[in-house]
Amino acid sequence: DKADRALRVVYRVAGRGTEELASLGTGKELQIAGPLGNGFPHKEKRAFLIGGGIGIPPMLQLAKELDCEKQIILGYRDDALFLKEDFKRLGQIYVATEDGSCGTEGNVLDAIRENGLTADIIYACGPTPMLRAIKQYAADKDMECWLSLEEKMACGIGACLACVCKSREKDAHTNVNNKRICKEGPVFRAEEVEL
Ligand code: FES
Repeated sequence: DKADRALRVVYRVAGRGTEELASLGTGKELQIAGPLGNGFPHKEKRAFLIGGGIGIPPMLQLAKELDCEKQIILGYRDDALFLKEDFKRLGQIYVATEDGSCGTEGNVLDAIRENGLTADIIYACGPTPMLRAIKQYAADKDMECWLSLEEKMACGIGACLACVCKSREKDAHTNVNNKRICKEGPVFRAEEVEL
């Protein structure tokens, strides 16, 4: 929130680092480096915003920033539909749940198909199997597609190469088919990366 100079961090406790974060009390001061890396491009095209699991939070900020017709497709495990209410009024929302407890039973692509949705561009963030399927879907439909990848990151500034993914082109920095998710990403054109 630029006006309020506020930053909201949404995370799942998954290990020691996030456990430590979760244990911090209100008013505790933290030092952070950022923002790091790139972000989604902003295009005025009819868009799918697709978030799966912990890939949902980045879609919220993007939905606020994009000035276009938006269809927001959110994939959850079950009916714990975190952040769903925050997406209200930002676009048309469709939900898929793995256990079928809410919306379409299945994944985000099942929700797109079940609702007969169409768009001209895809922005997506979520687990790799989901991104791989979306990349294939976009290729089949000849759609522009942008994916935000995730990897464990040590330095966050492009120095340690802990976060590389496979890329189609050779990277100028390392001269191998790698891209650093923290530095060249986390957002890539779907065709740029191998998933
Ligand atoms: Fe070190 Fe990306 S986290 S290069």
